[in-house]
Amino acid sequence: MLGCWKRVQFDILTLFPEFFDSPLNQSMLKRAQNQGIVRFRVINLRDFALDRHQVTDDRPFGGGPGMVLKIEPLARAITWVRDQDDGVWVILLSPQGRLFTQSGAAALARQRHVLLVCGHYEGVDDRVRYYIDEEISIGDYILTGGESPALVVIDAVTRLLPGSLGDAESAEEESFQDSLLEYPHYTRPQLFNGHAVPEVLLSGNHQRIARWRRQQALRRTWQRRSDLLDRASLTPEDQDFVANLARESEAGTEPKDK
Ligand SMILES: C[S@@+](CC[C@H](N)C(=O)[O-])C[C@H]1O[C@@H](n2cnc3c(N)ncnc32)[C@H](O)[C@@H]1O
Repeated sequence: MLGCWKRVQFDILTLFPEFFDSPLNQSMLKRAQNQGIVRFRVINLRDFALDRHQVTDDRPFGGGPGMVLKIEPLARAITWVRDQDDGVWVILLSPQGRLFTQSGAAALARQRHVLLVCGHYEGVDDRVRYYIDEEISIGDYILTGGESPALVVIDAVTRLLPGSLGDAESAEEESFQDSLLEYPHYTRPQLFNGHAVPEVLLSGNHQRIARWRRQQALRRTWQRRSDLLDRASLTPEDQDFVANLARESEAGTEPKDK
């Protein structure tokens, strides 16, 4: 959990405000709002169109398929928010942006006001970059609009804010927190269809459990996302464990991860 502002204001600029009706009012996001940890404001891009038909898109110069979100409504809406708070951090959701990660979420959790600009159709008039602070991509794939990426960012950031998670959840030991994937979890029953819960978890020995969990996190990360290990801070004991995994793998004696 990170030290950060008591409350974060998220503004979302979108052509589809109703998209957010349900997701912002469920589960952790609802609780965080009720507790005053976050505040959401959904801003309709159409309200910033210049003409009475509220046109917000147009055909691309140079030809080609699809429509492009026009610069005037985007610039007017962003400026409207900046005029209310020049400390607002403006993000354009874009597949061409910096890849969103857990450390990116932690950085955003330190902002007190974030405006998420959702593109749609073929995208936005590129001159919008004169009005934003950064571009964020949630992955190397193309979505229909910036609305789902905005929700991804809001969820990942909000759950890092103190008090947002209930008793049933914790952000302390989750995957990526320490550049490692998290250890596996089990709950009752102890035996299901012949598959038993690892004995150590039933031992009541907290030291053994903590060690087993650390080793499982190292093993999983090594097996599934070895790229993350370069960034993880490993103790000498961790390093020995990882070196041993590599030896086991070469010898073909490593346990299989299901
Ligand atoms: C269909 S996409 C436009 C893609 C654009 N023509 C391109 O090839 O880069 C429409 C909008 O969805 C959002 N979007 C799509 N994929 C995204 C991703 N991976 N991360 C963040 N936003 C995305 C952006 O706001 C984008 O402007």
